[in-house]
Formats: sequence, structure tokens, C-alpha cells
Amino acid sequence: MTLMLPITVSADDVCDSACDLFVAYARKGHWEKDSVITRLDEAFGGRLKTFLRQERFDGSRGARVFVPTFGCIKARKVCIIGLGEVSDLKAGTWRALGGHMAKVAKEGKAKCVASVIPAETGAGSESEAMTQSFIEGFALGSYEFRDHFGMRMRKRDRMPLSSVIFLESSVPRRHTLERCMRRAEICVSAISRARDLINTSPRHMKPADLVVAAKAVAKRGSGITCKVYDRSAMERMGMGAALAVAEGSAHAPFFVHLSYVPKKRARQRIALVGKGVTFDSGGLSLKPADSMTNMKIDMGGAAVVIGVFSALSALNIPVEVHGVFAAVENMPSGTSYRPGDVVRAMNGMTIEILNTDAEGRVTMADALSYAVKRIKPDAIVDFATLTGAVIVALGDDCTGFFSNDRDLARAIGKAAKRAGELFWELPLISHYDEALRSKVADVNNTGGRSAGAIKAGLFLKHFVGNTPWVHCDIAGPIFCEKEYRADIPYGGTGAGVRTALAYLEDLANERKVQSAPRKKRTR
Ligand code: BES
Ligand code: MN
Ligand code: ZN
Repeated sequence: MTLMLPITVSADDVCDSACDLFVAYARKGHWEKDSVITRLDEAFGGRLKTFLRQERFDGSRGARVFVPTFGCIKARKVCIIGLGEVSDLKAGTWRALGGHMAKVAKEGKAKCVASVIPAETGAGSESEAMTQSFIEGFALGSYEFRDHFGMRMRKRDRMPLSSVIFLESSVPRRHTLERCMRRAEICVSAISRARDLINTSPRHMKPADLVVAAKAVAKRGSGITCKVYDRSAMERMGMGAALAVAEGSAHAPFFVHLSYVPKKRARQRIALVGKGVTFDSGGLSLKPADSMTNMKIDMGGAAVVIGVFSALSALNIPVEVHGVFAAVENMPSGTSYRPGDVVRAMNGMTIEILNTDAEGRVTMADALSYAVKRIKPDAIVDFATLTGAVIVALGDDCTGFFSNDRDLARAIGKAAKRAGELFWELPLISHYDEALRSKVADVNNTGGRSAGAIKAGLFLKHFVGNTPWVHCDIAGPIFCEKEYRADIPYGGTGAGVRTALAYLEDLANERKVQSAPRKKRTR
């Protein structure tokens, strides 16, 4: 893993923490009365507040002032950061603020940072969520993918930050803080795992490498097993669609099925399905050069699934979860599948290929069919970098989701909100399905230019039968080109991991209220 920060909690006084940088927070308009700032000011002989006033610091969001300590306290430097108005600080904002602290630490070239979680996070369970978000934000904002650097990074730059200490004097609050930290750590390591897989160059992330990554989360004692099907096993299952996409590649395809069965009998069984195209050149319907440069991200859905799985047992999720994806590479060659080809998916549907670049839905056809047929889940949630059209509709930072089930759509919308991820539901306009008609097969794989994201969703719908299903098109937010939040640095983002985890946690809590057992069914 690229980054797992050693975060600790300490009972030290703010003046006694030996670190390179101490970060303090202040509300707009109230910073002069803030207890931490007042405590520091005393140690500075009253010169800190005077300096802040001279700098016209007012605590507005994003304002920050660095102050050398000249030995007045044990920290070498202090940074005061404005929180802005506290009334509009939601969990998501705390995550961004945590990320901001990571930026400040980097700027201040600090190896060891200490801080106090702002008291403004409040009290009660809400407060725990905010504290957890703040810590998550810090760790997520510190993420950097360095695996591919050779000579460029000097040794000194390689380990910018070695430790973070959160100071807390009260014993019960220290326990709460430790609990938040553990949960944040699990969540961040799931997201970082997804980010690492996405950021890895496609030369180093072939279908077989994605299989290795899936197997790595199925460690002994994790409650997770990993079944891998090779090309001939996929042939036997009738996965003619996913196999067709893989035909142009020199690298063998695989189909992966991860299962997590909690120790206590679960009432729900959920299938997570990911798009696992390790590189999307477009195939014979070749992409223009500029559209191809970042197509290593096309396994982002599978990365999300693997990331989620890495957190299930640590979070003690009492729901049975399955994760499936077809790992394939989409390449042009003499053995490629062609426009005009008709392929047959595992559920028996035939697909006329009009464009080999609409390959994601073709691989998902088999992955969804497998989920329905072999897993018989109560619900399917899929994550796929499926269309450029969803980026046209919602921009770079928002997931577009689709569903055939109102309750499930509501649940995903709610989970995304709690997780602080941008999700927006788009409609499956049923008569647009006519665009998917084919004269020679059951469906075609493109549907024409307009409403591309919706038509891709309608295509997938043909493979889920009556199973409640949500399709999340993560083509935009899975990769961050232009930073808009400090907890989402450049590169793969792992968008969807937190929403999926929040959804599974919500299901678990729902279960505690609703005691109706799930229908008994045979596999
Ligand atoms: N992987 C792409 C979608 C994509 C585009 C993801 C940009 C991330 C950023 C997908 O396989 C694709 O090529 N879709 C085509 C579909 C079209 C040929 C019907 C698209 O969106 O152009
Ligand atoms: Mn494509
Ligand atoms: Zn693709």
C-alpha cells in the first residue's frame, strides 16, 4: 500500500508536543476566544493573538497563518487555520478540512504534525462521524502514488510525513477518538487500495494482476474466499460476451468471484459487480490518441469492489457480500472481436457489436448474468467506468446512478450522502430501449449518440432480470485530473468505495430494527 500514516492519540498538552508543526483551528469571528489559541497565546506571552490581528486573520474558511514558535512551545512552527462559519460544516466539509491539513503539513515540510480535533465537531454520534471524517480527510489528502518514480524523487522528498499526533486531554474523549481513528483507518486503507490499483500503469495491471489483487484480500481469517475462472472455465459458463472483448489482447482474461460470509448468519445477500477492463484502447473501433492516454482507469469498478472487500471483515459487516468482475483488456489486433460480430452472453442474450469501444457493457453483460444466476442476490450494485456521456451530463466529479428499484435507489442515494460522495440519479427512460434493437440479434451494444449514459444503463438492465439493481457510472469521478477538494488528490480516487460501505452498514443497521428474515432460497 502506498500510504498508511501512523496516526496516534496523545494526552500531551498543546504546548508540550514535540513536533515540526502544530495545527490549530479557529471559527470565524470566535477565534480570539478559542481555548487552544488562548493557551498558545499565553505561552507566546500574548504575541500570537497580536500577530494574528496584524495579519488580519479572521477565521474565515481556508485562511491560514504560519507562525514560528522560537521555543515558546515544543513545536517548531504553528499554523492557525480558519474554519469559517461553523453552522455549515458537514461531515464532508470536515473530510475536506482534514485533507487541507495534509496540504499544510506538506507545505510546512513537516515530518511530524500535531493537532487538536476542533471542538466544533460537536458532541454525540454526529460528532463521531465528523471526527472520523476529519481523520479520513487527512489520510486521504496525504495519499500519493509513488510506485512508478525512479530517479525523479529525491530521497528527502520520499518520506515527507512520518507521524501525526492528535492531542486530547480527556480520557473518555481519547477513547472516542481512538475508535474514530480505527474506523477511519479501515475506510482509508480500502480507498487507498482502490486508488493504488487504478494508478498502476496498464503495463503493470494486466487482467492477471487484477486477479492477484483480488486474491490478496481473501487472506486466511478474513472470511473472504476468492474463486477465479480462467478462459476455458469462462467458455464452459457461456461467457461469450466478456470473452469476445478479450480476444484482441495478448493477455488472458479471467473472471473473479469474491465471497464474504460473516460469522453470524446473514439476512441479506448483496452482489457488487465491477467493470474490470485493465486497458481500453477501444479495440478495432480505436480511440483517438488523446482519449486513450488515461484508459488504465477502466478497471476502476473492479478496484472499487476489491477495495470494499478489503474492509468488510474489519468493519464486521453482518451482510453476505459477493464481488464479481471480468478482468479483460480491450485491444486491436488480428484476433480482435469486430464490429458486426454477434456474441452470446451467459444469460442467453445475443449482442450485435456495432462499436468495439462500447466494450464495458459487453463484459458487464456476463458479470451481471453470473451474479443473477450463480449468486441469486437480494440486490446488485454495479460500479463501472461505462460512458463518456455521463461526464457530459454530470461533469468530472459526480457519479450518475440508475436503478430498476425505487427503494434500492433511495438507499444508495442516502448512503452516498452520508459518505460525502457526489451521486446523482439519472432516469432509465424505457422507450429509449428501442435504440438498442438489432436486426440480427437480441440487442446492439451502442444505441446511437444521444443519451449515451442512459442507453448504457438500459443495455445493462437486460442482464439483471427482476433482481433489484443499481448501476453506478463512475467514469467521471474515478479519476481526479483537477483537484477540487483537498481529500481527493490527483489520480485514481476510489470513488464509490465509501458509498458502498455506507450502504452495507445501513443495511446492517436496518436489520436490527426490521426482524423479518430474508426469504429462504436455494442457490
Ligand atoms: N471506458 C469508456 C468510457 C469512459 C470514457 C470512461 C471516458 C472514462 C472516461 C467506455 O468503454 C467507452 O469507450 N464508451 C464509449 C461508448 C460508445 C462507443 C457507445 C463512449 O462513452 O464514448
Ligand atoms: Mn470503450
Ligand atoms: Zn471502457
